[in-house]
Amino acid sequence: MDYIVWQENFNVRVDVIDEQHKRLVQVINNFLSDLGNNNDRLAVGRSLDEMIKYTEYHFCTEQLLLEKHPDFLSHLNQHWQLIKQVRKIQDDFHKNLELKADIFDFLLAWLKNHILGTDKVHFSYLRKNNLL
Ligand SMILES: [Fe+2]
Repeated sequence: MDYIVWQENFNVRVDVIDEQHKRLVQVINNFLSDLGNNNDRLAVGRSLDEMIKYTEYHFCTEQLLLEKHPDFLSHLNQHWQLIKQVRKIQDDFHKNLELKADIFDFLLAWLKNHILGTDKVHFSYLRKNNLL
């Protein structure tokens, strides 16, 4: 089941980033759907690891391209905050703590705010200023 549906307006018009964002939506959906069938703990653990690994990989790609943006540090900070939050989810999972019920809302809101609010704005600035 797709919890988060890719939207045309997620496109930042940088091919590698758009492809990675699509894959990111997929790995988040995999995690949410494994979490939805809460009888398979092993699958939840695996898709959670995969989601974190892919997010870190994607952030590395973005950061290489975004370095020239004047607000690069605040962008970097948003990435770090997310990694901190998903690592906390991973930690809770391994400690057998109950995962917060609002993970779906949190991931969806983060993804939308970040792609639409920060990525799009920053990539369009770089494009306009020939910095890509
Ligand atoms: Fe970003």
